[in-house]
Amino acid sequence: MIPETMRQELQDRISSAITNREAAVDVMKALQTHYGWLTDEAVVEAAGLLGLSPLQVEELATFYEMIYRRPVGRYVIHVCDSISCWSMGGESLLRQIAGLLKVTVGATTPDGLFTLLPCCCLGNCGQAPAMMIGNSIYGGVTSLEKATDILHQHRRNT
Ligand code: FES
Repeated sequence: MIPETMRQELQDRISSAITNREAAVDVMKALQTHYGWLTDEAVVEAAGLLGLSPLQVEELATFYEMIYRRPVGRYVIHVCDSISCWSMGGESLLRQIAGLLKVTVGATTPDGLFTLLPCCCLGNCGQAPAMMIGNSIYGGVTSLEKATDILHQHRRNT
């Protein structure tokens, strides 16, 4: 269950939206931050806040690839696999990061720190290949050294 202050903030956000659905992503992201992923409990809470059914929230949740319906690591690494990044070595970047972390794509490291996922265009096509960790986007990740540095930065922040 979320704290009352958070509930109030989310209700204020929903009240300021033209329709409840407009606030759905914000509500799901806030609950995801609180729980670590969008748990079944969070889906029910989001539905209650938004005046939607849990099934409607589920439909929205599964549409957005940055909403996680399964447990994820502390940091989720999204490596872009859309056309610009693919043509600039995105596939290789994804493979290299999987190798660095010793996980398969979609998996979480045993220490629970990183989950590795492919994703659609991050809107950073001019600096392909791109990846995102948390709210930070990294472009021009063309070398193993650069990818390693980025991962080390996040390890240091834990
Ligand atoms: S194609 Fe990768 S950021 Fe747009």
